[in-house]
Amino acid sequence: MNEFAPNSPEARDIAHHLHPYTSPAMLREKGPHIMNSGSGIYVTDNDGQEFIEGMSGLWCVSLGWNEQELIKAATDQMQKLPYYHSFAGKTVNPAVDLAEKLIQIAPDGLSKVFFNNSGSEANDTAIKMVWYYHAAIGKPEKKKIISRQRGYHGVTLAAASLTALPYVQNGFGLPLDFALHTSSPHYFQDAHDGESEAEFTARIMRELEDMIEVEGADTIGAFIAEPLMGAGGVIMPPEGYFEALQPILKKHDILLIADEVICGFGRTGNMWGCLTYDIKPDILTCAKALSSAYLPISAVLVTDAIAGGVEEQANRLGMFGHGYTYSAHPVPAAVALRTMQLMEERDIVGQVRSVAPVFAERMEALNRYDSIGDTRAIGLIGCFEFVAEPGSRKKIDPAEKFAQKAMAKLQEKGVILRAMPVDGIAVCPPLIITADEIHRLYDCIEAAMPEIDAMAAGLDR
Ligand SMILES: Cc1ncc(COP(=O)(O)O)c(C=O)c1O
Repeated sequence: MNEFAPNSPEARDIAHHLHPYTSPAMLREKGPHIMNSGSGIYVTDNDGQEFIEGMSGLWCVSLGWNEQELIKAATDQMQKLPYYHSFAGKTVNPAVDLAEKLIQIAPDGLSKVFFNNSGSEANDTAIKMVWYYHAAIGKPEKKKIISRQRGYHGVTLAAASLTALPYVQNGFGLPLDFALHTSSPHYFQDAHDGESEAEFTARIMRELEDMIEVEGADTIGAFIAEPLMGAGGVIMPPEGYFEALQPILKKHDILLIADEVICGFGRTGNMWGCLTYDIKPDILTCAKALSSAYLPISAVLVTDAIAGGVEEQANRLGMFGHGYTYSAHPVPAAVALRTMQLMEERDIVGQVRSVAPVFAERMEALNRYDSIGDTRAIGLIGCFEFVAEPGSRKKIDPAEKFAQKAMAKLQEKGVILRAMPVDGIAVCPPLIITADEIHRLYDCIEAAMPEIDAMAAGLDR
């Protein structure tokens, strides 16, 4: 157990701060890791130690840690109008510009934007819009929403009900009963022995159709999916997945919500994950890289049909009775607008595509380590997954918390990465990373791998 001086920031943090997604026992033992400054892909802690931030924080700081243009956009807007709201027909110039910009760059068919502050709120708004829209068109019983096992959609009550990861639902009495969870698309872990990727896709689609039949299509309003699953373990859709999924949803009149909170704004090598995987959503939610995470803002984009249904119902009821004090807040909106302009001016998507092959090659090369059973990468996002026995799919006992321990070893070598529930490590650096910096990042990973392999070899098998 560490002893921190009574007035140290560590001791004061332990005394007063209840941390999200943190084990209180671990926090008490090890103390918080306090970050103090950042520049480019690097962050520096209170002890002056510098790290490569290989996760863009929480998959979000796309433009790196000292983008002066974003700081200027925020301070300029602060000077001019630090707050106004968008209730009762009011709005602010940066929100007008941002909504227009988002619709210009959005996948085809999306025509209106609703602003919120976080990814979770965006998904809650999307769910409420599904309910409101279906009520508007005389189908109020279409209330259930299907998400996938291992999907991550946030932590507010509705979003957490769709986030099908036990650690998000346990202890909270969740999920609420509108939420249904269908099979995860994780081929590496969930395929039957000898099953091809196409056969795996066909099987999980049959499982989905069975669920729709049992529940009744007239009770199901929407299906929500990340184009590729992020926090569940950077899980890529298996062969033919969205191609098979979308006609099933269409046939049963089930709307598709694309959760682009991680994939949006260049992460997969296209502006949207929907472009990478040929997804045509009815509703799209985004956040994080929308403002390069410099200020909280998220958006829900909807088709004309949904916007029309929502507006008709709102006219009948007198107003659209939903919104946050900070919906379309001028300062995050100004920062998000500048982020979108910088993405274009600097061709950030082109930059991602130009370095993606280096990222993928270095990721793939990790397969030569015994403890790694699978690697995957697209654009600037990837994951390496641990196995108990070299060349097998056998999982390490979760009680070992192997990925957590590996993450600590990686941090000792100077790179901050994130342990995944699939027992792997995610890599998701800022989109401004250069090829040289990608090599530096993977050199840190490779420096830790002999110790991680030794740790795996020492496990009881
Ligand atoms: C795909 C996805 N959706 C929603 C969320 C929730 O966003 P927030 O933490 O901003 O509420 C996250 C957060 O990581 C996410 O990855």
